[in-house]
Amino acid sequence: MDTLSDIARDIAVCTACALCIGATNPVPGEGSPTARVMLIGEAPGANEDRLGRPFVGASGKLLDQLLLLAGLQRSDVFIANVVKHRPPDNRDPLPDEIAACRPFLLRQLAAINPEFIVTLGRHAAGRWLPNSKITQIHGKPHMVGQRVVVPMLHPATALYQRSNLALLEADFRELGVLMRTHGR
Ligand code: URA
Repeated sequence: MDTLSDIARDIAVCTACALCIGATNPVPGEGSPTARVMLIGEAPGANEDRLGRPFVGASGKLLDQLLLLAGLQRSDVFIANVVKHRPPDNRDPLPDEIAACRPFLLRQLAAINPEFIVTLGRHAAGRWLPNSKITQIHGKPHMVGQRVVVPMLHPATALYQRSNLALLEADFRELGVLMRTHGR
């Protein structure tokens, strides 16, 4: 059975797309190997690239606060991204980059086997709920196979559009309720 360290080791030497060329560090993800909740963001930014850790900048601070509203600490969850290397100039990850990185995400999901997948932003939501608009589906749980997928707005959107903060707060509170009432 693949462990999270095996997967991180493979990510560190991956050359399946061009993102590895400009990146300083891979950002494989981190957290509990037995997490009930796996959060999936978009891509590392400058701070994450520098430290090799996910969500360590301003949106990470906000994410920590949002997790508390769901009754969770960062150490309770596993946090990963759709792509594991930083796209240049923080551009959106391209479809072929997302596809090249997908096997790592699938291996992480298999290793952790979380009950809940919380996607952050439209790129992560698109993987499980294609052809949906994040502005319409945010906060609404969907069963995908044996897992509950909860698409959330990306925390970074609340940093420049304050009205999104209230939506994120309400959706994370609801996640807490769902986790208390749903058991696999
Ligand atoms: N935004 C993301 O989507 N992922 C990170 O790791 C940091 C910011």
